[in-house]
Amino acid sequence: MQVEQTFVMVKPDGVKRGLIGPIITRFEQKGFELAAISLRTIDRNLAETHYGELKSKPFFGELVDYLTSGPVCAMIWQGPHAVENARAIIGKTNPVEAGPGTIRGDFGMDISGNIVHGSDSDASAAREIGLFFDRDHVAQPSAQLFG
Ligand code: TYD
Ligand code: MG
Repeated sequence: MQVEQTFVMVKPDGVKRGLIGPIITRFEQKGFELAAISLRTIDRNLAETHYGELKSKPFFGELVDYLTSGPVCAMIWQGPHAVENARAIIGKTNPVEAGPGTIRGDFGMDISGNIVHGSDSDASAAREIGLFFDRDHVAQPSAQLFG
């Protein structure tokens, strides 16, 4: 079976509200395997690079302020269809539209504080994993879960 990886990040509001645990639980319950995890405060340069494709948007400055306002919890989760499965349990970008049962639907109130990030494609996942993690610190797919 092809094992894919995706990049997920609990944003500063999620960390401050004590939601790392509930979010990890949802990924584990879905069937994902954790490949790497790191709690860290990121600088503006990394935040701007991470969201580089949104540079021209009017909310870009506030987005970077928000992402650098406190520690984030960066994670790599792996399993079949990792990108699509992660986006499905995270829910729509705006918590107002995210359905109940999704992370943003259950824990968020407004698009400016939507709790969690998930890569939108395999190419984005590879790029974002490379920004946040050294290859040496990423676990390989476990034979037990996905062999
Ligand atoms: P985007 O990549 O479009 O959404 P997603 O996180 O679902 O992939 O946007 C990145 C983040 O930018 C989004 O999580 C929240 C923020 N954002 C706003 O603050 N206002 C907006 O109108 C949009 C579209 C996004
Ligand atoms: Mg996105």
